[in-house]
Amino acid sequence: MRKILVTGGAGFIGSNFVLYMRGRYPSDRIIVLDKLTYAGNLENLKSLASGPGYLFVKGDINDSALLDGLFEKEGIDTVVNFAAESHVDRSILGPKAFIETNVLGTFTLLEAARKNWSAPGDKRFLHVSTDEVYGSLGDKGFFTESTPYSPNSPYAASKASSDHLVRAYFHTYGLPAVTTNCSNNYGPYQFPEKLIPLMIINALKGKGLPVYGDGQNVRDWLYVEDHCRAIDTVLSRGRLGETYNIGGRNEMKNLDLVNEVCSIIDERLSADKSLSVKYPFKGSRKGLIHFVKDRPGHDRRYAIDCSKMEKELGWRPEHDFNSGIRKTIDWYIDNPGWWERITSGEYRDYYDLQYGDRI
Ligand code: NAD
Ligand code: DAU
Repeated sequence: MRKILVTGGAGFIGSNFVLYMRGRYPSDRIIVLDKLTYAGNLENLKSLASGPGYLFVKGDINDSALLDGLFEKEGIDTVVNFAAESHVDRSILGPKAFIETNVLGTFTLLEAARKNWSAPGDKRFLHVSTDEVYGSLGDKGFFTESTPYSPNSPYAASKASSDHLVRAYFHTYGLPAVTTNCSNNYGPYQFPEKLIPLMIINALKGKGLPVYGDGQNVRDWLYVEDHCRAIDTVLSRGRLGETYNIGGRNEMKNLDLVNEVCSIIDERLSADKSLSVKYPFKGSRKGLIHFVKDRPGHDRRYAIDCSKMEKELGWRPEHDFNSGIRKTIDWYIDNPGWWERITSGEYRDYYDLQYGDRI
């Protein structure tokens, strides 16, 4: 029975991971530590009841006293670190929180593990990171685990710093750490500021679909459940001190992706009378697409070579984009309360700031 500390477990990927692990390993104890920033949402975890298998703690990964108490009282033997500021556009508007959580927070968490794991034999510290640390690709090539780091946004730079700290703690102190670098995720519970949920929600509501620049930037999309399974695999079989790239082998240009989302929503709604009454719209939602001022320093292309995960650990994505995006669109259609509560709150201030002068 493991005692797993999941930091950032009320966010998008963290909550998907907690629900996945709860279903797969009923006897493990999962302790979620989350600051509940704008991106953290306890509703994501409402199906879990506190008890021997699960505990939620509201708190900051920068709080070393809180961390020491949790390691000691709970006997934490596994850490999965999702806690982060995660949105590139917000890092451009205000980078400080990214340094505080992603750099200093990861440092504080590493220190807590180092201090409290005097016999690190059966312990694991898995740091969840991103492909953005590698910078931007041209038309050809892929990011491998040996691609040099070249972060371009404050977000990417803060994640790169945290990755370097994790590496140093393994080499210097023997902390049993491993890092995963994943491509763009999508799926249930993703905060509406990110491309896919933003486009789904705006398309349902008949609002404009703002595509940055020329819409030709490429991302490699992975359904979130495949990412959760990859993290589970690395936790149990990954080699300590290693890094593992995780990706969907699914490159898409942003404009193609938004067109695809529009086609599926048009098709779904025209086949369902009650939905077409709830979200009335004439013509195709593709007509809502408009190009807006580009993101400063916008990385052109990301593409992950995940052959190390495939060959060494036998993991591969199970969802192709067509099945994953249909599941995702259905989830947003079936859970309007979840996103309406978010989009009617302080998110509107962010939206006005981010998109107000772009058009
Ligand atoms: P998210 O923004 O949805 O969730 C982040 C969570 O961390 C939130 O619940 C938030 O409340 C919590 N948090 C923030 N600061 C904290 C602090 N100081 N202490 C404790 N909790 C704090 O992010 P996400 O998209 O789920 O990403 C999770 C992790 O995966 C991040 O580390 C991100 O860099 C990485 N990642 C994300 C993607 C992606 O496509 N979303 C891809 C690769 C890697
Ligand atoms: O690659 C992994 C990264 O993917 C993660 O580390 C980040 O946490 C996650 O946010 C994501 O970063 P991106 O910047 O790639 O994701 P985002 O959803 O913000 O944007 C995806 C692409 O779509 C990007 O090229 C910018 C573009 N875009 C985004 C928004 C929000 C638009 O064209 N319009 C938009 O309104």
